[in-house]
Amino acid sequence: MTKTISFQACCFAMLFGAMTMGSVSAQGAPTVIRIGTQNTDLILQVADNGRLYQSYFGEHLLHDADINQFSWNVLSSSDGSMSDRGWEVYSCNGNEDYFEPALSVIHNDGNRTTYLYYQNHKQTKVAGGVQTDIVLSDNQYPIEVTLHYIAYEQEDVIKCWSEIRHQEKKPVTLLAYATTMLYFNNPAYYLTEFSSDWANEAKMSSQRLQFGKKVIDTKLGSRAAMFTHPFFEVGLDRPVSEKEGNVLLGTVGWTGNFRFTFEVDNAGNLRVIPGINPYASDYKLQPNEVFETAEFIFTLSNQGASHGSRNLHDWARRYQVKDGMGDRLSLLNNWENTGFDFDQQILASFMHEAKNLGVDMFLLDDGWFGNGETARNDDHAGLGDWEVNRAKLPQGIPALVDAAKEAGVKFGIWIEPEMVNPRSELFKTHPDWAITLPNREHYYYRNQLVLDLSNPKVQDYVYSVVENIMKENPDVAFFKWDCNSPITNIYSPYLKSEQGQLYINHVRGVYNVFKRVKQNYPNLPMMLCSGGGGRCDYEALKYFTEFWPSDDTNPVERCYIQWGFSQFFPAKTMCAHVTSWNKQTSVKFRTDVASMCKLGFDIGLKELSKDEISYCQQAVANWTRLKSAILDGDQYRLVSPYETNHMAVNYVTKDKSKAVLFAYDIHPRFNEKLQAVRLEGLDPNRYYRVEEINLMPGAKSRLSSNGKVYSGDYLMKVGLNVLTQGQTISHVIELSAQ
Ligand code: DGJ
Repeated sequence: MTKTISFQACCFAMLFGAMTMGSVSAQGAPTVIRIGTQNTDLILQVADNGRLYQSYFGEHLLHDADINQFSWNVLSSSDGSMSDRGWEVYSCNGNEDYFEPALSVIHNDGNRTTYLYYQNHKQTKVAGGVQTDIVLSDNQYPIEVTLHYIAYEQEDVIKCWSEIRHQEKKPVTLLAYATTMLYFNNPAYYLTEFSSDWANEAKMSSQRLQFGKKVIDTKLGSRAAMFTHPFFEVGLDRPVSEKEGNVLLGTVGWTGNFRFTFEVDNAGNLRVIPGINPYASDYKLQPNEVFETAEFIFTLSNQGASHGSRNLHDWARRYQVKDGMGDRLSLLNNWENTGFDFDQQILASFMHEAKNLGVDMFLLDDGWFGNGETARNDDHAGLGDWEVNRAKLPQGIPALVDAAKEAGVKFGIWIEPEMVNPRSELFKTHPDWAITLPNREHYYYRNQLVLDLSNPKVQDYVYSVVENIMKENPDVAFFKWDCNSPITNIYSPYLKSEQGQLYINHVRGVYNVFKRVKQNYPNLPMMLCSGGGGRCDYEALKYFTEFWPSDDTNPVERCYIQWGFSQFFPAKTMCAHVTSWNKQTSVKFRTDVASMCKLGFDIGLKELSKDEISYCQQAVANWTRLKSAILDGDQYRLVSPYETNHMAVNYVTKDKSKAVLFAYDIHPRFNEKLQAVRLEGLDPNRYYRVEEINLMPGAKSRLSSNGKVYSGDYLMKVGLNVLTQGQTISHVIELSAQ
């Protein structure tokens, strides 16, 4: 056994260069790696035992020489005494750390320990920042980990991911494969998490982290973020607040099972370990295969969560989201209005209504496909049979595209191509393409099964759903891509005895399809949807221009939901539709709430009064005119619905010439004392004209500030009286620099 190990180690050393035990520069100083942005530094250091430690993560250090001063959290002796164990950057099973590791491997000889030693690193300029790649390897087993970081200078965002590979003779088993680890040493830590459910997404709650582990994870496979979302905030020293304090905002890019572990150790240090959830996924890694972890994206703000969110919004638009800097289409959707019940004529009339409303597009939802026995007339049948339903739409999609052209709007279409109903031709022909247990009774979620995307043939099929529509109808302008079921009956007929690969290979299969779609249709906008907001991560958003945060379009609930998602996502990516949910609220309130995101409508316009229609037309025109602030500007969350009975946010264009303030009264108390809303992000030395917009026809603004001009300084220090004691009242204010 010993012989085998040293032979393998020797081969590995030859391949990856001589093993470095303790890395020192020519001057004898230890190797220090700075991963820095404008305001943040993450500093890593190779200790005299040759391993890599986090020596600092915090505010940017002014003096280069200071980055070499750290020693207390870098293991300084090689005996590994528990009192001095250090903050190893990619801690592995079996070392002197004794707390949760990032990586856990079973080697070919059954040994479960891995020690990673620094080999080399390089730093290169990439779009928006500097990429650092650090190679680590074991000295007893031919296993190598490369840590990748991109530090985005302007946005103060760091994105990282890791690659694991080996050259043992047979596959090794990976039991844990986190993206990275971050350490903190503060008096107290407060976690804000975002739990969720259908129609109840992005619920924020906060708790203090004490000794031990808090784990946030998901085991749903697909629709994986249904019960909790892949992002979190940690308040250092004090609970997260919007405008003050040190806050870590972190999010993992993985459209499957993810896991965050927050562990406070015996010394009161916190480690944060983000990554793919290894639940039921003991992964067999073949020799020379590269295991790429999920991306982890984080920012450290010393001015509260709101500032951290703006960092992420800028970064997402510039570097991550599909067409992040491009325009977005306002739309009229038919799901809430018709459900499955429509025909060509009804849809054609909606297209005219869309045009009349002033939106850019009509979006056809679920129910347009399947025929005969498998017609999609409810959610029991049809998924998998992507042939147009001839009873509802005898002239097919081409006639819809023509009708949209004739009406003067674009046409978009809904699909859910990763799923199959057992009542479908697809399931009859390819029962082995679905994830299904061969030896147990099946259980269903929304009467459907998840297709086995670990199977390349299934990937081809799913891709062909988009391709066939586009080949026949090159003018289709938009896709809404839904995913309503978690993985049920967890067994892949394709993977057979390798079921430990299922959750991961399934997600990789989904990405293969997304990649092909993006490669072949780079300019096609796409909405990511998953029974509401069950998919909301930055890996999927590389392939999607926007996402659907929730089926809950009750504007009161939407205030909380949009406040929650805005912590991580720019308004440009968040779709919000005006619907008939909570008809007790006015159409104005519903529209004003939707207008703070990417605006759409999904409502029977015939039920609206003439005044309501003209109000909506005006609101669409205002929103379209103010997109440069709402979609591409900076967002400031001013008044929290979690802390008050109101909500307010304002957006400012990058050149600070325009701003929009949205103020909502949700459920104020009788005779409640009202506060002025102080705006943020304006130029203190410029003067802004205040104008209330989105007024019902004939209504006059009752705000005393309406039509007046104030300095940015006044607006930010004194503010505007825009909150009221009325239930579900809203005000939208346009501010124009003079
Ligand atoms: C769930 C989505 O969230 C809804 O918007 C709608 O598209 C339905 N699926 C259709 O089945």
